[in-house]
Amino acid sequence: MTSTPTDVRSAACYREPTRADLPDIQLIDAAAFPDRYPFFVLRQLLDAHSRRSVVAVEPGPDYEDKVVGYALTIGEGPRAWLISLAVSPDRRGYGYGRGLLQRSIELCRERVGVDEVLLTVDPKNKPAYELFQSFGFMLREHDERYFGDDEPRDVLAYDLSRPVTRVPRF
Ligand SMILES: CC(C)(COP(=O)(O)OP(=O)(O)OC[C@H]1O[C@@H](n2cnc3c(N)ncnc32)[C@H](O)[C@@H]1OP(=O)(O)O)[C@@H](O)C(=O)NCCC(=O)NCCS
Repeated sequence: MTSTPTDVRSAACYREPTRADLPDIQLIDAAAFPDRYPFFVLRQLLDAHSRRSVVAVEPGPDYEDKVVGYALTIGEGPRAWLISLAVSPDRRGYGYGRGLLQRSIELCRERVGVDEVLLTVDPKNKPAYELFQSFGFMLREHDERYFGDDEPRDVLAYDLSRPVTRVPRF
């Protein structure tokens, strides 16, 4: 029997990542970004920031957790940076990106003294751009060489004092 997006979404949850999730996170990262994080960087980012980070998990065939997406947030003081958000290619369009972003914003909201969430996005990355805009992220800055030659990025900002305007699908 084939599972529908609604079936898998209803069996899924969001939680803090653990060390055991790292191989899955690395695979998702490698499939999503040409410049993937080396394993040691991912490991240290998660050790340092797991409490601000989120994984979306589905139950696997033996009811083990299967990570299908992750979001990594870092930063001290009033600004939090969402530095990575990715969903496994075979699970895109199921609502996980929205759920991960929603949970990441909630975690920032729960932390005292955080005023805004910042992120960078390739202006040509339509799925990500539309997701961020649908949440109310606003253009803060465009940098034609943010990550070097031919690597422009828009810096988008989400003001945490704004009310939540859209109910996530998840
Ligand atoms: C961006 C990404 C995380 C979205 O995850 P996802 O689980 O497919 O997204 P969702 O199913 O939750 O969709 C949420 C919203 O994103 C936007 N979106 C998602 N896929 C889209 C597409 N192919 N085209 C346009 N908009 C799209 C829509 O606004 C959508 O809302 P809607 O379903 O109400 O129309 C996913 O495409 C991904 O992992 N991309 C590669 C990594 C990446 O680019 N990360 C962002 C770096 S800044």
